[in-house]
Amino acid sequence: MNLELERIALHAERLGLHTVVDMLPVLAEDAATKNQSYTEFLERVLRSETEAADQRATEMIMKTASFPFLRTLEDFDFAFQASVSRRQLKELASCAFIERRENVIFLGPPGVGKSHLAVALGLEAAKRRLKVKFTTCADLVASLAQAMRIGTYTTRLRTYVRPSLLIIDEIGFLPLGAEEANLLFQVISHRYERGSVILTSNKSYGEWAEIFSGDGVIASAILDRLLHHSTTIAIRGQSYRLRDKLKAGIVLNDKEVTERN
Ligand SMILES: Nc1ncnc2c1ncn2[C@@H]1O[C@H](COP(=O)(O)OP(=O)(O)OP(=O)(O)O)[C@@H](O)[C@H]1O
Ligand SMILES: [Mg+2]
Repeated sequence: MNLELERIALHAERLGLHTVVDMLPVLAEDAATKNQSYTEFLERVLRSETEAADQRATEMIMKTASFPFLRTLEDFDFAFQASVSRRQLKELASCAFIERRENVIFLGPPGVGKSHLAVALGLEAAKRRLKVKFTTCADLVASLAQAMRIGTYTTRLRTYVRPSLLIIDEIGFLPLGAEEANLLFQVISHRYERGSVILTSNKSYGEWAEIFSGDGVIASAILDRLLHHSTTIAIRGQSYRLRDKLKAGIVLNDKEVTERN
């Protein structure tokens, strides 16, 4: 590094611009090769730092909220999923529903984007510095059952009750036994009118008793609290996972399945 670059690196170090310190020699050489103007070079140098900061912020959000993947509303192809309204999702992305402590429930068959949209809304909330936690229903009940066994139930319950937004993914994938149903009920009931829940399920409300092994009482107790202040988004249509196979005619679409039966 020449003396000038070394001095710039020292300034950057003092200002805490660690990416600039690391990237400076490479960026300076690149600027010289490409004959960049001073302003272009300065912009590139500062951008390296802001990009790294954005990356760190995203990693922190992913870690604290335990999102399983990163998906945004911009990544969502609204043209493919006509039953989802872009306007409605934009409105939800404002996170006003979280301030009002309301719930959002995504229902629909596999692969239509329920988890994608739940994570995308969770990210919007996290960007607004709201505390968000993501869990699958199976993990939630397993974690609470384990805490119950080792005597840390109250503390564990708090981790699901405290966040401004709790996302419970995949309700109904596996039926819940009586104890598990009760654990889920406790979470929903503690959050009722206190904090928002985003929930995804592949079962329509009419089929919810099945999730709770035929216990209609607990199903209605949970649904009653969830639905009191809520928006339901029922997604229909084809699985995005299978869209290429559908196009290639490897998988039957809904119409063809109906015609065959
Ligand atoms: N309309 C869409 N535009 C872009 N990507 C989509 C869309 N719908 C789904 N996807 C993508 O397809 C994959 C499956 O979507 P997702 O996991 O959200 O489905 P799901 O409804 O939660 O399904 P399951 O019930 O099996 O959990 C993901 O990678 C998701 O990002
Ligand atoms: Mg899913």
